[in-house]
Amino acid sequence: MEETTTILSALLNRRSVGQLREPGPTLEQLDAIIRAGASAPDHGRLKPWRFVIFKGEARLRFGELLAESLKVRIESQGLTATESQLEKEKSKLLRAPVVVAVGAALDHEHSIPVIEQFAATAAACENMLVAATALGIGSMWRTGDPSYDSSVKTALNLKESDMVTGWLYFGSAAAKTAPISQNYNHSQYVTYWH
Ligand SMILES: Cc1cc2nc3c(=O)[nH]c(=O)nc-3n(C[C@H](O)[C@H](O)[C@H](O)COP(=O)(O)O)c2cc1C
Repeated sequence: MEETTTILSALLNRRSVGQLREPGPTLEQLDAIIRAGASAPDHGRLKPWRFVIFKGEARLRFGELLAESLKVRIESQGLTATESQLEKEKSKLLRAPVVVAVGAALDHEHSIPVIEQFAATAAACENMLVAATALGIGSMWRTGDPSYDSSVKTALNLKESDMVTGWLYFGSAAAKTAPISQNYNHSQYVTYWH
């Protein structure tokens, strides 16, 4: 029962934490988080998820790649990226001690619809956020333009036809997050079918 309470409380209390700092998850905790991701429901057991972990120096080196891809995107519109735009992109992954890119390796020929394969990777992301919450680790799911950039996908070992489902940031919360609004009324989203 105690475990049930913990899981339910992690589900109900998970919040996006914008500011994450050291310490990040330990190797053991990160392993548990990834295993929680890979335990998500998965129609056809295709295991479409791919996890790419960034920590330490690798975050900055990948940031350089992100900045280069931004530069190319902006130039393709006939514009020039500013130094501050590039600097911001470079330091993106430094916003947390550990970032995990979750990719969806999609089989477009399979009888399981691609949207369901993608859904399995989104379920993996949520499992990971909830696992982190249960371990007392702050987390945040981010996406943004790099997720849809083919050069970024290639760097993540994904194909053009694959998707980046999320960039999951993990670390210690810099400040206490506000609990979900007590005024939240889910009745507007829930009906009983008669
Ligand atoms: C698919 C997906 C992509 C998201 N991308 C971003 C993002 O790029 N930047 C951001 O600030 N939050 C992002 N979020 C987090 C949402 O903004 C956040 O979940 C929402 O504000 C609700 O807050 P909560 O997570 O604390 O409940 C994303 C969430 C999901 C599910």
